[in-house]
Amino acid sequence: MDTPKTSFPSLKDFHASIAECTKCELHKERTQVVPGSGNPKAKILFIGEAPGKNEDIKGVPFVGAAGKFLNTLLESIELEREDVFIANTVKCRPPKNRDPKKSEIATCIPYLHKQIEIIQPKIIVTLGRFAMNLFFPDKKIGEAHGTIQEKDGKKFLIMYHPAAALYNGSMRETLIKDFSQLTKFL
Ligand code: URA
Repeated sequence: MDTPKTSFPSLKDFHASIAECTKCELHKERTQVVPGSGNPKAKILFIGEAPGKNEDIKGVPFVGAAGKFLNTLLESIELEREDVFIANTVKCRPPKNRDPKKSEIATCIPYLHKQIEIIQPKIIVTLGRFAMNLFFPDKKIGEAHGTIQEKDGKKFLIMYHPAAALYNGSMRETLIKDFSQLTKFL
């Protein structure tokens, strides 16, 4: 039986409540918070790394080149962005697209946990090592990608970040193959 979905607070209300966040230094240079987007009742929740320049401008995750490939991956299993929910380890763009700092991720992570609690996805897909490390700090992505893991009653599919396929053609096939496992959760 499916677990009942909580209705309060709604994702929309929650996102409104974090729109003015100033808990870490990332707020200083951001255009806006990029909380995440998609279906609040999604079965699949994706977690990327951090908003980039385009995401910071539009307020929506994965709208640049990596996002285009993420859309292709979704199409490969006959899904659209409106079917899933997409978020990041941090909700504001790190200046010059630097890696998010451990302290910034630690400050922001309660927001992601709240989103997981509200959405209650059947599976969480970690895109890249930053998202994987949130839940599996000891795993190596080269070994763990393409595997389904369980932790604290939640299921995870570990994947490389879609941006990896932009610079390495063979990675594209790996990502498509790893992604195809999601059909089990639809
Ligand atoms: N890469 C990410 O990890 N997240 C985004 O939102 C965009 C690119």
